Amino acid sequence: MAKILAVGNATLDIINIVEHYPKEDEEIRAKSQQIRRGGNAGNTLAVLSQLGHQCTWAGTLADEPDARLILDDFHRHKINTSLVFTAPQGKVPTSYVSLNHQTGSRTIVHYRDLPEYDFSNFQTIQLSDFDWVHFEGRNIGQTRQMMNHLKQHYPNLPCSLEVEKPRADIELLFDFADLLSFSRVYVNHLGFDQAEPFLRKQHDCTPHANLTCGWGKDGAYAMSRNGSFLYSPAFVPARTIDTLGAGDVFTAGIIHQLGQNSSLTVALNEAANLAGKKCGQYGLDNLC
Ligand code: FRU
Repeated sequence: MAKILAVGNATLDIINIVEHYPKEDEEIRAKSQQIRRGGNAGNTLAVLSQLGHQCTWAGTLADEPDARLILDDFHRHKINTSLVFTAPQGKVPTSYVSLNHQTGSRTIVHYRDLPEYDFSNFQTIQLSDFDWVHFEGRNIGQTRQMMNHLKQHYPNLPCSLEVEKPRADIELLFDFADLLSFSRVYVNHLGFDQAEPFLRKQHDCTPHANLTCGWGKDGAYAMSRNGSFLYSPAFVPARTIDTLGAGDVFTAGIIHQLGQNSSLTVALNEAANLAGKKCGQYGLDNLC
């Protein structure tokens, strides 16, 4: 199994399970509440760890009580947190989530008051200790330096990038990644309502990379380096109850499979399967 480093976010997720998504200015009572550790990189690692990999998280926390919950959850998942940078002030990134009991949709209001993990933190990491490095597509200027550094010094170390949210200049990161995992939100934001034309266009720009794209209940798409276009149907659970983090689970499934030299076809199917399973349960525990 691989030693995997992920650079990105860990959050506190305060999740209210609601009977319906509230209207503006409405007051409703939550059916129940769950408080969980979230964040794209953190979620992806929590799944990779269950799949048997040795995982390390590189990110920032604030010196405040809620950081404990995040660290405890990482430790519960046997994820190494020795690279964390703790800011003396600020608040851990916090997501206030309304999870619709009828549909499993998750509506997020996110608050952040924390410095990002920066290149000087990254330079202290002994990268030769790892078999795979995964980045969350955020904090573009600093992440670009990190990815550039990685490719300069460790050109053979596989590197993946999760492209979930449209952010200014995020495409400056694409040249450095061997695997680009796009979200439907990102693809739609570029004006594509289907994955195939996007993937074909993206393949022309980044032919060095395998490309994947989760498409929710409509399945998942990919394009391999050699230009094969692939599709997997979704594995829709009997009842969709919680879609929070499904994209992060999908990315973990792809990394897991490609890391053990499975074909992209197998990786796509297995990742879609895992993401579907996740949507049928609360949280990320006992997924594998
Ligand atoms: C899910 C998630 C949540 C977190 C939010 C941050 O993908 O990582 O756990 O609160 O996204 O954007």
